[in-house]
Amino acid sequence: MGEGRKACRPLRQSRPGAGDVRSRGLSRGERPAARRGKSGDGRSQAGSLCRRASRRAGAARRLCGAQSRIRSFQVTKSDVARPQIRPLKGLLVGCGFFARNHLHAWSETKGAEIAAVCDLDVERAGRYAEEFSIPQWHGTAEVLASGAFDFVDICTTMETHEALVALAVRHRVPVIVQKPFAPDIDTCRRIVANAKAAGVPVMVHENFRFQKIFRRIREILDSGEIGELTFGRLSWRNAIDVYSNQPYLLKTERFMIMDVGIHMLDLARFLFGDANAVSCLRQSVKEGLAGEDAATILLRHDNAATSIVDVSYASHRFPNPFPQTLGEIEGRLGSIQILEGETLLVHSEGRQRRETIEADGRNWTSDPWTQIQDSVPRTQQHFIDTLLSGGAFETSAEDSLQTYALAEAAYRSAESGRLVTTAEL
Ligand SMILES: NC(=O)c1ccc[n+]([C@@H]2O[C@H](COP(=O)([O-])OP(=O)(O)OC[C@H]3O[C@@H](n4cnc5c(N)ncnc54)[C@H](O)[C@@H]3O)[C@@H](O)[C@H]2O)c1
Repeated sequence: MGEGRKACRPLRQSRPGAGDVRSRGLSRGERPAARRGKSGDGRSQAGSLCRRASRRAGAARRLCGAQSRIRSFQVTKSDVARPQIRPLKGLLVGCGFFARNHLHAWSETKGAEIAAVCDLDVERAGRYAEEFSIPQWHGTAEVLASGAFDFVDICTTMETHEALVALAVRHRVPVIVQKPFAPDIDTCRRIVANAKAAGVPVMVHENFRFQKIFRRIREILDSGEIGELTFGRLSWRNAIDVYSNQPYLLKTERFMIMDVGIHMLDLARFLFGDANAVSCLRQSVKEGLAGEDAATILLRHDNAATSIVDVSYASHRFPNPFPQTLGEIEGRLGSIQILEGETLLVHSEGRQRRETIEADGRNWTSDPWTQIQDSVPRTQQHFIDTLLSGGAFETSAEDSLQTYALAEAAYRSAESGRLVTTAEL
């Protein structure tokens, strides 16, 4: 998806000679030690926080316990109370196009803050650090070995995810990683198996289900108003110029289904339930693309509902509906139409009701991207809240395997011209 890249302010305090580990105004390692306390060890910091907490109120004591549990990754449910003792400290990896939305979102996420950013292009990391007032920037994610981070946010493209998640797992740092999870399902499975064996929590950043409009639809479905589901259609068709901001998409062989289709497949599972068989046709409409820019996917759900997911970056409409997902959901008692203008038309009991579910704009959001940008803080807050409570992420790495399997099945169906079941993958 596209967003106008804003020019970053020039980096004023990048210090040549600091290698790839830079900290504004301090020498290598100085700032992390100061932040970590005397021992410079993340676990010791948790310990000293616990000692301080024991002198405070009971609510604070419970939270300290929750933070210690993140380190040991025991997933026991606890009633975490705010205010917290200290925010969890994160490293953001990959200071590219979409990371800007992550960084704005982290600045409003309760219970967490980004303590450092990193990018192979260290100057780029420095510019983001400067712009977002982040104290450290680095040229490699190896800094995860420092023990200074409670989580890592990986906002790089999919071919880098396996190595970066493995690095975080090796250092026992919980992960949130952007979609698409990896270039193929075998890689996804290796990532999941590795993290599971080490007991390190991993969540896939799947933000579409955290759009306000889809949280509202989920509420309506849960209320039973339209009854047992029989049919759904989710449609993303526009002609936004994604190629200016994400030029790598021109050369991506698995393009549209992986880029936007994966969001739609996750939404289909979120709204209609798990699916087990896929039929797909894909098209390459724009000339010169390595992959497809349109696809039509038919899904068979476990609950016997049928759904259609159709995605296209080659649909010329005026005004351009980007980035709205449109469609309909039918149940035995009623239906919901998802219309332009963030509008739901709910049909039940012989009547129709119109609801407008507008995304929350902020000083860092800009139309037409507000709907997507607004979903990012909600996604990241879910990650932090779940990490603190020890519960299960809605889009855990393991759960996301099921979404990924539908995308993989879509490609295999398009190649083979037949219905592909997830059981055969
Ligand atoms: N959820 C959404 O709505 C949404 C929207 C756009 C993009 N995305 C996803 O976000 C991810 C990033 O996309 P983008 O467009 O920002 O990419 P980008 O190419 O603009 O940025 C990626 C950055 O990561 C850096 N990088 C790569 N490997 C690295 C490594 N090993 N260590 C440190 N830095 C490294 C690159 O130098 C680059 O600056 C993609 O997976 C994309 O699909 C998601």
